[in-house]
Amino acid sequence: MKKALLTSLLTMLGVAAAAAPAKSKQERSIDALIAKMTLEEKLGQLYQLGGPVDTLIDPAVRGLLGSTLNIGGGAPAVNKLQRAVMERSRLKIPVIVGADVIHGYRTVFPIPLGMASAWDPAAVETASSVAAAEAAAAGIRWTFAPMVDIARDPRWGRIAEGSGEDPYLGSAIARAAVRGFQGKDYGAPDKVAACAKHWAAYGAAEAGRDYNTTDVSERTLREIYFPPFKAAVDAGVATFMSSFNDLNGVPATANPWLQTKVLRREWGFDGFVVSDYTAVQELLQHGIAADGAEAARRALQAGVDMEMVSTLYSSNAAALLKQGWLSMAIIDEAVRRVLRIKHRAGLFERPYVDESLAAKVTLTPENRQAARRVAGRSMVLLKNDGAVLPLSKSLATVAVIGPLADAKADMLGTWCGEGKKEDVVTLLEGVRAKLPQAKVVHVEACRIASCGEAGIAQANVNPAQACRAEPCANAGIQEAVKAARKADAVILALGESSDMSGEANSRADIGLPGGQLELAKAVLALGRPTAVVLFNGRPLTISDLVEISPAILEAWHPGIEAGNAVADVLFGDVNPGGKLPVSFPRVLGQVPIYYNYKNTGRPFDPADHYRSKYMDAPNSPLFPFGYGRSYTQFKLSGLSLSAKSIRPKGRLTASVDVENIGAREGDEVVQLYIRDLAASATRPVRELKGFERVTLKPGEKRRVSFELTPELLGAYDQGMKFQVEPGKFKVFAGDSSVGGLEDEFEVVAAE
Ligand code: NOJ
Repeated sequence: MKKALLTSLLTMLGVAAAAAPAKSKQERSIDALIAKMTLEEKLGQLYQLGGPVDTLIDPAVRGLLGSTLNIGGGAPAVNKLQRAVMERSRLKIPVIVGADVIHGYRTVFPIPLGMASAWDPAAVETASSVAAAEAAAAGIRWTFAPMVDIARDPRWGRIAEGSGEDPYLGSAIARAAVRGFQGKDYGAPDKVAACAKHWAAYGAAEAGRDYNTTDVSERTLREIYFPPFKAAVDAGVATFMSSFNDLNGVPATANPWLQTKVLRREWGFDGFVVSDYTAVQELLQHGIAADGAEAARRALQAGVDMEMVSTLYSSNAAALLKQGWLSMAIIDEAVRRVLRIKHRAGLFERPYVDESLAAKVTLTPENRQAARRVAGRSMVLLKNDGAVLPLSKSLATVAVIGPLADAKADMLGTWCGEGKKEDVVTLLEGVRAKLPQAKVVHVEACRIASCGEAGIAQANVNPAQACRAEPCANAGIQEAVKAARKADAVILALGESSDMSGEANSRADIGLPGGQLELAKAVLALGRPTAVVLFNGRPLTISDLVEISPAILEAWHPGIEAGNAVADVLFGDVNPGGKLPVSFPRVLGQVPIYYNYKNTGRPFDPADHYRSKYMDAPNSPLFPFGYGRSYTQFKLSGLSLSAKSIRPKGRLTASVDVENIGAREGDEVVQLYIRDLAASATRPVRELKGFERVTLKPGEKRRVSFELTPELLGAYDQGMKFQVEPGKFKVFAGDSSVGGLEDEFEVVAAE
């Protein structure tokens, strides 16, 4: 591309000359510092690298390294690095130490998808705040979380790291996580700067294969994928991470529309953007840069300020500047953003961490208690025919069977920070602790094959030999059957190992891996009171299992308190109140499947063949978004709207009564959905616009209200202008995204 054309294009996108921020005292001191920096030192601030701390001291002291990732070693290692920089470097700019603290540091909470199932932003805030305090005590000042990617495809292993399929729930959780990590001031000794990732549309990876290309309309980006990121900005998130994926032909890491136009110009974000791991280098593989210099230029000009791991900024910027391909203003602006966040993180005033802190705040009984409570709240009761659950605490013999019954490491889930398997309470241990007088028999029966690198490599050569998990040996099944036959109740612990979800862990078959279904069939055929507990990182296709199991509890990967939290639920000390944040498909062919789909011109009608449907499966999911049962029953009634007609700028309140009509205290998540019946661009059949998790005693009734504001009622018109259009809206109040009470109102054009 010609330089002149490039410059005018960048100017059009508002990239080239960044507007000068208001000059506060802090900004002036940043300017003064930048004025003193050499080009090498500037580029150092834009560089992040991991590795043993001793290998990082020399570059950091020379001003060539502004940030580190996942270095480990705790407070002493961080202080050693920082002391070297503060005492020996020319400009004494502290390093910002970043790490993946995703769902806990040492006290590991449920995976984020599990926490989202609690439909309880306060629980997420608690977990993030515990994680922040433990991480900060280890010298970490910046976490690469929250991951706020919407995901509609359960093949994608990273669905485990996010909040599921819905932008409204995802936004509420994004806000809560940022609040928990950062508090009011992330310069505080128990807080860390947060990072909204992966910007953007990473969760839309084609075919659910990690890192794959995405092609998403601007409407879907703005309505589905962007809202949790915007919520994070509004909550004051310090940083963003650019995603690996190609988005509509321009990889996110070289995408000026994403990194500058939307994020900076439209949303006013003034923190910095870090690339994902070697994502700048990967622009070559994407085929959008012919060489390292072009990759560096594209990423910097797009607005990606800091390069993670690859070294293209530092090795190419001087030549790019000399040849006129890059302006110093762009480099200075990137450096300014990094220094701004270092200031806000309090690094200049407090570069060191108190080394005695970690022992006081890490893995405390209170933290463990919080992990147990949040895990309990995250569990979703999928089925409970014949009230198999809760189990009695006076059982004499219980059989705890299955590959995940006593699997410590698998309870931690993906990205488990400093989580240690020895900290984990397994289901077997949890049941033993709950029933000290009972005989608790354990049979592993079979193992879930973990997908070793060899197996994965083999998958690309011969899929039949892929790491699709081991069959369950007959001997294992027989042992399980023998134990189950003698037991008063059976608990079957099934699901996925923790390395089957998370980064690079996409699955093409999302059924119960290996021989677990055979094991379940053999045990369930005995007709003993049996509950299945699922530990997994994604929705699974489990139609067969659901058909034969009377009771199923979705526990996800619940963290270090897994066994205690599951036992609390199985034995009725905690009444499950979680709801699915993502749809469970019946069969893989339904994917992508999500509740907020468009109606089509031919919605399903059993009386008409020429309708949108499958010949061999229903359209509906196995379990819908928002679904989850309880040991008690609830009744919703009396839905009313404060107005039947409003102006486009008006608002109204929807209220509904929720009553516990069962015999136990329990939680219901009251959910409010709308449907815009006719708009200038098509709208989903339902959109979540409010929810509240309430705890009610037997017989207790409460009125819950939700305000519907123009922000919640509006949508993008054909010209991509966000507005509330006149016309009728339906309102649904229910206990899931299906059914519920209905009412209607109308938006009437202003005169
Ligand atoms: C790659 C992952 O995509 C990202 O989520 C993570 O934060 C970085 N690696 C750093 O570990």
